[in-house]
Amino acid sequence: MIEIITKLRQDFDSLLESASDPKQLEQIRIDFLGKKGKLPALMKELRNASPEEKPQLGKDINLLKQHVENKINSKGACLGTKSSKKSDETFDTTLPGRKELTGTLHPITQVMEEITSIFFGLGFQVEEGPEIETDYYNFEALNIPKDHPARDMQDTFYIEDETVLRTHTSPVQIHTMENREPPLRIIAPGKVYRCDSDVSHTPMFHQIEGLMVDEGVSFSHLKGIMNIFLQEVFGKDTKIRFRPSFFPFTCPSAEVDIQCVMCSGKGCRVCSQTGWLEILGAGMVDPAVFKAVGYDSEKWTGFAFGLGIERIAMLKFGINDIRLFFENDLRFLKQFPNL
Ligand code: PHE
Repeated sequence: MIEIITKLRQDFDSLLESASDPKQLEQIRIDFLGKKGKLPALMKELRNASPEEKPQLGKDINLLKQHVENKINSKGACLGTKSSKKSDETFDTTLPGRKELTGTLHPITQVMEEITSIFFGLGFQVEEGPEIETDYYNFEALNIPKDHPARDMQDTFYIEDETVLRTHTSPVQIHTMENREPPLRIIAPGKVYRCDSDVSHTPMFHQIEGLMVDEGVSFSHLKGIMNIFLQEVFGKDTKIRFRPSFFPFTCPSAEVDIQCVMCSGKGCRVCSQTGWLEILGAGMVDPAVFKAVGYDSEKWTGFAFGLGIERIAMLKFGINDIRLFFENDLRFLKQFPNL
């Protein structure tokens, strides 16, 4: 029987060698592996073998079977078909293709880019600064000394005694002025950190800082720039107002409001019936800040402003919970296709 197995293997190899199309290959498959094929016949034959021979012969037949299957499969792949059954499958070439799913920019990134490009058009350059700051850059140089009550306004994450996660983007003002001479016009977008969490606060959020320093810069320049910027973001008819406020690094300081985008100033839940929404903090750079960076405050004047990007995005898109931005739920994110 062993000779029969060897012979069968040789026969198969030479037949396979000469097969040149899927049809011939299929015929070989039927001849060898089919119900009435040579290999099942051999298996039946095994019954007549002696008990001593049986195990080895069984193994040999199985090896041959594997050999036949493997060879037919690989030859099938070469001839362009796996088996004759699949070869008559047809393709409808007129069917539309499957759409590739593409990602979209995060809504915060979109708003950040929109604001950046508005200021870019107004001649502002983008600056960046570190998120881990020294007490000096985050507070001291911005005219917020150690015992100043303004430190309580910002719930600071301390890393070490003199090292903090920046609580605002204002330290970028200091880095920039230390490294450059006026005139300058910069914006600084980036992450900031405060120990606070509820529907309108997250421990990490984004701000954009703005700073313009030149000869003869006045509060009217600040008003003009804020007007252009806010009307660009919220629409040409957006009314804005300035309210007196306090920041240690600006004087005079103001808080800027826009007329409520939800109720157009009539008064609603979003604006707490006031008709106005607080949007950003701003003011004229305090001479103490110029002194810290070595600018001559007799010669130069400037304005600065800072705003929270999440707040703008919430108002723009009508979102009532800031935490949605950071849960990364695709059902939420998919609602903001790239602008
Ligand atoms: N840094 C202030 C804040 O985070 C905002 C601000 C920036 C105010 C620049 C005035 C000038 O609240």
